Amino acid sequence: MAAFTIRPATPADAEALCVLHKASVRALCWGAYTTEEIEAWLRDREPQGFRHAMTDGGETMLVAERDGAVVGFASIKGTVLFGLYVDPATGRGAGRVLLLAAEDEVRRRGASVLSLQATLNAVPFYRQHGFMRQDRSTVRRGGRDLAVLDMTKTL
Ligand SMILES: CC(C)(COP(=O)(O)OP(=O)(O)OC[C@H]1O[C@@H](n2cnc3c(N)ncnc32)[C@H](O)[C@@H]1OP(=O)(O)O)[C@@H](O)C(=O)NCCC(=O)NCCS
Repeated sequence: MAAFTIRPATPADAEALCVLHKASVRALCWGAYTTEEIEAWLRDREPQGFRHAMTDGGETMLVAERDGAVVGFASIKGTVLFGLYVDPATGRGAGRVLLLAAEDEVRRRGASVLSLQATLNAVPFYRQHGFMRQDRSTVRRGGRDLAVLDMTKTL
């Protein structure tokens, strides 16, 4: 099987990223969140939001590809990892590669700490990769407060 390759996202990726994001959350966050929470989270997700995020929104998005297909992405704003999602069918294993690429990018920006708000399902993944648990917190998605964990890693 081919290795994952990482490249910057472009607005032409917005449609694929939106589809992947929804599939990833529905398959991989289920269990940590209820179906109602997940559907509220995804209700307003549109490709336009991804286009905006990577242009005017100031987010840097990195895409993982395998065999020419987009299988995951990471989003960074400043020194915060805003999002990390893999395709549940084709992208397992890309999470680690994307996380290392995001750490490199933040290091290039001169930062020594990467922070994020981890979904509860992803906490073991981040722990395994050196992130320390900070405080419990919530994020507002589709009118609901979803539980997350603030985590940081010294780079
Ligand atoms: C959290 C997340 C990004 C981690 O990415 P990932 O690719 O699954 O993580 P890894 O690179 O560590 O791989 C995870 C598992 O898949 C396995 N894996 C690797 N390649 C694989 C493949 N080709 N097929 C199946 N499984 C594979 C790994 O061995 C690992 O298993 P293990 O934990 O039992 O050792 C991903 O699970 C995800 O997108 N979750 C939903 C969205 C989310 O919650 N994101 C975090 C927001 S803060």
